[in-house]
Amino acid sequence: MGAHVTRTQVGIIGAGPAGLFLSHMLHRMGIESVILESRSREEIEATIRAGVLEQWTVDLMNGMGLGERMMREGHFHTGFTLRVNGESHHVDTAELTGGKMVTVYPQHELLKDLAAARLAEGGQILFGVTGVGLEGVECDRPVIRFRRGTDGPEEELRCDFVAGCDGFHGPSRQAIPAALRTEYQKVYPFGWLGILTEAPPSYHELVYANHPRGFALLSTRSPEVQRLYVQCDPKDDIANWSDDRIWSELHQRLETRDGWRLTEGPIFQKGIIAMRSFVCGTMRHGRLFLAGDAAHIVPPTGAKGLNLAVADVVYLSRGLEAFYKEGRTDLLDGYTETCLRRIWKAERFSWYMTTMLHRNEEDSPFEQRIHLADLEYAVSSRAAMTAIAENYVGLPL
Ligand code: APR
Ligand code: PHB
Repeated sequence: MGAHVTRTQVGIIGAGPAGLFLSHMLHRMGIESVILESRSREEIEATIRAGVLEQWTVDLMNGMGLGERMMREGHFHTGFTLRVNGESHHVDTAELTGGKMVTVYPQHELLKDLAAARLAEGGQILFGVTGVGLEGVECDRPVIRFRRGTDGPEEELRCDFVAGCDGFHGPSRQAIPAALRTEYQKVYPFGWLGILTEAPPSYHELVYANHPRGFALLSTRSPEVQRLYVQCDPKDDIANWSDDRIWSELHQRLETRDGWRLTEGPIFQKGIIAMRSFVCGTMRHGRLFLAGDAAHIVPPTGAKGLNLAVADVVYLSRGLEAFYKEGRTDLLDGYTETCLRRIWKAERFSWYMTTMLHRNEEDSPFEQRIHLADLEYAVSSRAAMTAIAENYVGLPL
């Protein structure tokens, strides 16, 4: 007996921000899709990740009628703080960019809203699939093989196009022959130790701190839960970080000369993340299109990851719409180039914020002074601060 076959127009691998936004946009264009996701819905909705939304991402959510809970529960800041050696410098994004805000809405909350709305519209998201494999992306009839759960029979999803929205470790990028793939990568010699603490907000906006002991970041999740990070060795063992040591580092790196102090609370989650910059310069292969973390990674300092994933699928959905409605392939043909223009600017900004704000033991004393000068210039010049603000709230699509 042959494998069970499902047909759709666009087969989407991955129900992260890229895959879910894409299926919503396609649905609104009258294009069918099916999402195949290896994790369970519960696992996705419980995974803590960043969640700084650029202004246009917020506008897009609202434009699709999906922003109600975000507008109610999100945190809207008119700027953020750069803290250098105990002195605070407010980057007033609203004033510097014509009203654009910094929105903090945790990624898993956004994913909950997107998945619930898609399923309510009758959208197909298959969670917990295994054995996802791509075939025929070089011809007009791609097939995605998969199983439901670990022991379902092998099935086929036949589609016109495959969207590889399966994150950095997913199989889609590997389906592009290595000889045709150009990849760029930089690995940083530092990481972030992130915690969640049950405490009220310590400050009214995000604080990015540069300190001789290393970088620290104060962010928020809700009125009761705060998210904080300290720069650490990416190979360090989390067991070396007692709660006391974490608070001690956070206090030292974040405290101000005018006596402001962090509010402590019980730490209920902690973990270390490594940092890299990565770009796959080949985002299309035949009928396979990569989007989001499958194609690029930014270090989290610029808060660009989620927004960049959404920008890719905006371009992809426009290309698919032009194909289905007008039989045009020019937008799909230009997909990689269009995406890369935005991606490299976000890569540059994320690298810039990262190198400027962290302490890098591998830097020569000359480079260390240059980064410090960069930071001192940034907080003392309206022109430099405007450049930071307009990148932070998101360059135009
Ligand atoms: N089969 C099906 N799904 C898969 C497979 C597979 N073999 N491999 C990975 N996936 C799923 C993952 O479980 C995940 O849910 O693909 C999804 C990819 O989602 P993300 O990693 O969130 O990537 P993306 O949608 O591009 O969003 C990028 O999310 O990772 C954060 O910080 C990052 O904010 C950025 C954003
Ligand atoms: C977060 O809240 O997790 C967060 C905020 C801003 C960043 C990175 C992470 O730049």
